[in-house]
Amino acid sequence: KKPKVTVIGSINMDLTVQTTIMPKQGETVLGDNFATYPGGKGANQAVAAARLGADVQMLGAVGNDVFGKDLVHHLQNEGIDTSAIARSEKEATGTATIILSNQDNRIIVAAGANKEVTPSYIQDHLDLIQESDIILTQLEIPLETITYLSELKKDLDVPMILNPAPYQPLPASVIDAFDYLTPNETEAELFKKELQEDRSEDKWITTRGSEGVTIYKDGELVTVPSYDVTVEDTTGAGDTFSGALATKLAEGYSIEQAVQTANAAAALSIMKKGAQSGMPDQASVEQFLREQGGSST
Ligand code: RIB
Ligand code: NA
Repeated sequence: KKPKVTVIGSINMDLTVQTTIMPKQGETVLGDNFATYPGGKGANQAVAAARLGADVQMLGAVGNDVFGKDLVHHLQNEGIDTSAIARSEKEATGTATIILSNQDNRIIVAAGANKEVTPSYIQDHLDLIQESDIILTQLEIPLETITYLSELKKDLDVPMILNPAPYQPLPASVIDAFDYLTPNETEAELFKKELQEDRSEDKWITTRGSEGVTIYKDGELVTVPSYDVTVEDTTGAGDTFSGALATKLAEGYSIEQAVQTANAAAALSIMKKGAQSGMPDQASVEQFLREQGGSST
């Protein structure tokens, strides 16, 4: 039976443009290769989870506009259940304006309809949440919703993963409520500073790019290596990781095995442009792992 993964999160259209020179303040430069790609951390994670074999329910909101229609269709084509996605009458679909250059990427997210993923919207879909094998969420929806989810957790026997991105300070009680957190290195450092005293270590699964992913195993810090591939576009790599991880944890993999699979999925995803284009299915991940020599540990 397919694991049931519910993703509660953002749905954005990514508007990307490439430049060799990052414009300075007040400057205009000539770039090229404008393209739109389906994105948003929530939607990206939903697609990653679905491609790896989960039965995915998406909880989120789009505007009543062309982007919103496109994005919902796209999720449907991935086999994701979109029936609970809300359509805002007053907010536009979320966008991410992404400047890609050789040196760095810069992103501005306009939340738009994603703001309407409120606690009351969640309340309306509690049945779907209760039926899930795992819940996955991020920080591109209102923080009060994340807090609400952390409170629900007390009466809910469903594991919850928080991908705490983009970074925002969170109360310790919220951190404590989630079963797993998947920050990148920068986010992990910020949380460490903010929380001061050590919170339960074993829930932290920290992605460190080419340095691999650190997890805790029997109280010890362990590094699960990442894979060396030719990078085309790293946008959404973290999302591929979190989405794949959710599916594999729901399937009953150990944390280490789930992280290994998620690392392979993320590696494959960055070989293609756009957050979702390179996300692999289960068969491609298995083939990649075989080519890499089976176990990465
Ligand atoms: O994590 C990558 C995503 O962040 C992009 O798809 C963009 O939409 C932003 O939300
Ligand atoms: Na990609």
